[in-house]
Amino acid sequence: MKKTITVVTGGHGGMGKAICKELGKDSAIVLAGRNEKKMAAAKEQFEELGIESYICKTDISDAVQAEALAAYAASLGEVRRVIHTSGVSPSDTGTENIIRINAVGTVNMVKAFYPVLAEGGVMINFSSVAAYTMPQTEEWTQAFECWDQPDFYDKMLALAGEAEDEESEFFRAGLAYAMSKKFVIYFTQKNVSRFAEKHCRILSISPGCYLTPMHQKLIDNQPETAENQLELIPAGRWGHPYEMGALTAFLCSAGAGYINGVDILADGGQNAGVFVPQI
Ligand SMILES: NC(=O)c1ccc[n+]([C@@H]2O[C@H](COP(=O)([O-])OP(=O)(O)OC[C@H]3O[C@@H](n4cnc5c(N)ncnc54)[C@H](OP(=O)(O)O)[C@@H]3O)[C@@H](O)[C@H]2O)c1
Repeated sequence: MKKTITVVTGGHGGMGKAICKELGKDSAIVLAGRNEKKMAAAKEQFEELGIESYICKTDISDAVQAEALAAYAASLGEVRRVIHTSGVSPSDTGTENIIRINAVGTVNMVKAFYPVLAEGGVMINFSSVAAYTMPQTEEWTQAFECWDQPDFYDKMLALAGEAEDEESEFFRAGLAYAMSKKFVIYFTQKNVSRFAEKHCRILSISPGCYLTPMHQKLIDNQPETAENQLELIPAGRWGHPYEMGALTAFLCSAGAGYINGVDILADGGQNAGVFVPQI
């Protein structure tokens, strides 16, 4: 019998690690990311827990590397789950990388794994509550529909506009983040029928604010913004990465077999609290 393989991009990141610990209970894990040192440290931790894991250095914004990751994973066994958590935010990097990694990277991952995902398999792409903060304009949809064209990245970048100074660059990066994460949901949903033809599912998760290295950077660099954000969360706390591990494990399970082509917003009530007048 072939080994069951779960691929987790960013499996050494805050949420990725928690997800590997859950899904690694019944599957070998392939970790993908750029930082080999961090991946090696995560692998060591997983092995202490008895989780079989492999490392594949991958920059998912490069289509060739995403394809090499898919080929490597398929060479190890049957790829049954692809959990694509890799992503960057304005706390990590600028507008260009946000679009290249979050939007182009998601296209690369879906294209690379569609052929290798085994029957009954599931792919989960990570979006964000930020995707819900802005309406999808006609212009955005037109750019999203260019996902398979060579100028997709340029079209997305043009929508982020120009920045004149540091402050407007941060706003531009925030817009690019929301747009790129909206694209993750849109592109995931565009793939549902062809995945279903293969008896596979594809869906997305939009986390709210989880206490991971990504979110910690915001807390450290912009404590006031973080404080204001916390006040908007009805749950009154940040999310715990282990909660994301448990949610992902459920969405991969047979019990979630009819959950397909949707975005699961796991935000402690933040979006409802902000956008729906509360009783
Ligand atoms: N934490 C939150 O509150 C929050 C809220 C909303 C949405 N999200 C989303 O949830 C996902 C996971 O977030 P997190 O908090 O766990 O973030 P994290 O701890 O910063 O981990 C992000 C991971 O993405 C990987 N990555 C970044 N660029 C990459 C690239 N070009 N190729 C391959 N891997 C890359 C990083 O690995 P390398 O550096 O090794 O490449 C890292 O392991 C992200 O997509 C994020 O946007 C998080």
